[in-house]
Parts: sequence; C-alpha cells; structure tokens
Amino acid sequence: MSGHNVWTHKGTFLLAAVGSAVGLGNLWRFPYLTGENGGGAFILIYALTIFAVGIPILIAETMLGRTSRQSPIMGMRHLTKTHKTSRAWESIGWLGAASAFLILSFYSVIAGWALHYTWLMLTGSLVGADAATISAGFDALLASPGLMTLYHTLFIAFSALIVGMGIHKGIESGLRIMMPALFVILIVVLIYGVINGDVRAAASFLFTFNIADLSLEGWLQAMGQSFFTLSLGMGAIMAYGAYMSSEASLTRTAIAVAFVDTAVAMVAGLAIFSLVFGAGLETGQGPGLMFVTLPLAFADMPFGALVGGVFFILVLGAAVSSSISLIEPVAAFLVERFDMTRPQAVTIMVVAAWAMGLLTVVSFNVWAEGTISHALFGRSAFEFIELLTNIFMPLGGLLIALFAGWALTQSEVMKELGTNITWFKTWRFLVRFVGPAAVSFVFLRTIPQVEGYVIPSLGALLIVGAFALSQRLRKST
Ligand code: PFF
Repeated sequence: MSGHNVWTHKGTFLLAAVGSAVGLGNLWRFPYLTGENGGGAFILIYALTIFAVGIPILIAETMLGRTSRQSPIMGMRHLTKTHKTSRAWESIGWLGAASAFLILSFYSVIAGWALHYTWLMLTGSLVGADAATISAGFDALLASPGLMTLYHTLFIAFSALIVGMGIHKGIESGLRIMMPALFVILIVVLIYGVINGDVRAAASFLFTFNIADLSLEGWLQAMGQSFFTLSLGMGAIMAYGAYMSSEASLTRTAIAVAFVDTAVAMVAGLAIFSLVFGAGLETGQGPGLMFVTLPLAFADMPFGALVGGVFFILVLGAAVSSSISLIEPVAAFLVERFDMTRPQAVTIMVVAAWAMGLLTVVSFNVWAEGTISHALFGRSAFEFIELLTNIFMPLGGLLIALFAGWALTQSEVMKELGTNITWFKTWRFLVRFVGPAAVSFVFLRTIPQVEGYVIPSLGALLIVGAFALSQRLRKST
C-alpha cells in the first residue's frame, strides 16, 4: 500500500459519494423513466432494488476500495494477490474503467444540452414560446454537431479542471461549494412547483402503486436505473472508497447515500411533474421530458425564465459532481501505474472520452438513422454505447458482490463493517445470493436486445464462470 491519500474529514466520503450518485440519473433519467413506465409501480421496484440490492453492493464496493486503498484496477490486483484468488477478478477494475470511460463520453454530451438550456432560459429566449417552437428548438440543437460539440467540450473541460486540481483542492473543495447549493436550488424549484404547478396530481402520479401498470421491461429498467443512480459497478465508488477514513461507518454511510439519492430523485420528480401537470402537458415524453416538456412548462409561468435557468444550473452542477467521479478512477490508475502527474493522467482520460463522445454527438445528426452506423449495429452509436454500459454496469456489480461476498474473510469484513454478527450475516447473504441473483436476472433480460444468440450465451457463460470462480474462492478462504 502506497502512502495513499485520504479525504480531509471523516464525512467527506459521504459528500463525494452523494455527489457521484446525484446527477443526470436523478434529474433527467429518473423522471422520464417514471413517466414512461406509469409512475408509482416503477418507483416501488426502483426503491426496493435500491434497498435490497443497491445498498449491500454499495457497501461491498466501498469496502473493496477502502481495504485496498488503491485505484480500482491496482486495488483489485492487490486484493487478488493477498487473497490468492484468480487474477481474473482484476476484471472488476478493468470493467469499471471501461464503463466509466464510456459513460463519461455520453454523459458529457447530455450535460452539454443542459448548458444550452441554461443559456436559453437565462436570456429569456423561451418566454411565451409554444410547444412547436420549443420542440423545434430541441430538434435544431440535436441537428447541430458543431453546437453539441462545443457544449460537450466546455462541460468535460470544466470537469477535468476540477479533478486535475487533486482530490483535496479540486474534488473536495468543489463538492463543498456545489452540493449545498444544489440542495438549496432543488428546494427552491420544489416550492416553485408547488406554488405554480399541480403538486397533488404529481404526488398521486408518483405514489400510487399499481403493480399491474408495470411491464417486464419496466421492471428491468427500474433495476438498471437503481444501479446507474447509485453509481454502482463502475469503480467510481471504489475509487472514492480508497480515500475513505477507516473510522467512518460503511453501513451508515451507504444507507445515507442511498437515502439522499432517492430523496433527490423523488423531490425532483415531484417538482418536475407538478410543473408538467400544472401546464397540462404529457408525462410520457421520454428523454425529451426535461428538454422539451419542462421548458414549455416554464415558458408560461411567472419568473419561469429565471427559475428555469436556475433549475438547469442545478442539472449542470449535479452532472459535474458525477462526471468527476467518472474521471477519478481512471486518472488515479494512470498516476499509480505509470507514475504520471495528475494533470497528465486526467488529460489522457478526458481527451479520450471527449473523442469517444463525438460518436454520441453524430448519432443525433450525421450518423442518425438510415446511415452506415445503423447498418452496422442496428442502432445508433450512442444507443450502442449506452447498451454496452447497461451490460458492463450490472456485470461489474455482480462481480463486486461475488468477490466481496466470497473472497473476503469473515474477520476482514467484520473489521470493515464494524458491526455485530447479525448484520454481517445479513449483508453477506445479500451480496452472496440476493444481489447476484437479481443482477443476473436483469443482465440476462437486457442483453437479448442485441440481435442473435451470441451475446446472451456469452453473458450466461460469464455468469456461470463467475459462480464457478466463486466456488474456487470459497475453497481458498
Ligand atoms: N449516478 C450518476 C447519476 O445518477 O447521474 C451517474 C453515474 C456517475 C454513474 C458515476 C456511474 C458513475 F460511476
């Protein structure tokens, strides 16, 4: 273990993990998925998965980071050696790095759209605009590779700047300013929604649980969303966990992260749907909910331009605090493995992710439907990258759960958890069986979306392989 960095305060990990968890997933993806999947029933499955699968895996991932005190790849290499397990488990680190890179590439492009809307709102360009104008405006943004690239570049460069300044001066200080501001803005937007919108309709839409409303697809999306929103399986939490104080409680911290993350999604959902219902608009708009429906709702409300602008600043801040957690695991690896300086490492990661992001940019215009990329993959490059991350994410979570559940010894885990035997046994049962079973289910249902049988069988093989490995691990511990 090298003389590794540790966060300045015992509670900083919580701040950093909440910063990573709360992002576009809560403010953009959660509301539109809920809208598309009929409301309450979706939320019920989402919340259940967060608590039964998400929290135990969140604890597992943080634990792997904190015991190894290194970046995910080097940390897993270290743990496979000290636990005499197969080097194959190092794939947890590599998979995480690959997913972080892929997610960052499209996350930054979508956050760039928020930059565009912050500008439009604050300059009052949308005041009084009608549905057709706002919808045409969004289409025009998507049709312009130049504009999208500009916003993508600005967003990713800003995130890089923060990570490049180091974990204390950059990440910690940045989060300490950003996070409280974000919570204040969220409350302001909620109050605004309650005053100007229809909060009753929003609450009944979000909290009426009718499980029959939920398709199988909806179940899967709810589970996938709970991984995405908690930043699980991607090395982000492991990298932050490596800097976590040994005194902080893993269990309490993980519960707090999940709680705050879920609360933010609910408050954002309540605020957004209040405005949407208040303006008499549709909920099932898909990804355009935030960029078309919401600006339309703000267009006719008192101080809509100002509050709308502030709302998009909230989206941007939440996205920055998440994207820095995508840069950190890879940057930390490059620093540890190749002795690079932090700015060098961050530059390499970010320039590569920026270039990859151009594929997402052109997916909406130059390479949109009917072009060569569609012919190749049956979907746009953006959809293909998103699909890849949807496979890597649960796979990473599955491997993390298996490794922490089977390879770490009881005494190690007890020391890390610092709690009684009952909780230890419950947690171990959850990560050994419940988490892997749930993840395998989501995983196997997601991948048949890719044509043919090759990838599903590969997935099944991987899962069986992982279980077989876990059996070997069991013997060696
Ligand atoms: N949790 C973030 C969100 O909800 O927007 C997205 C994310 C960040 C996923 C970091 C994964 C990650 F490593």
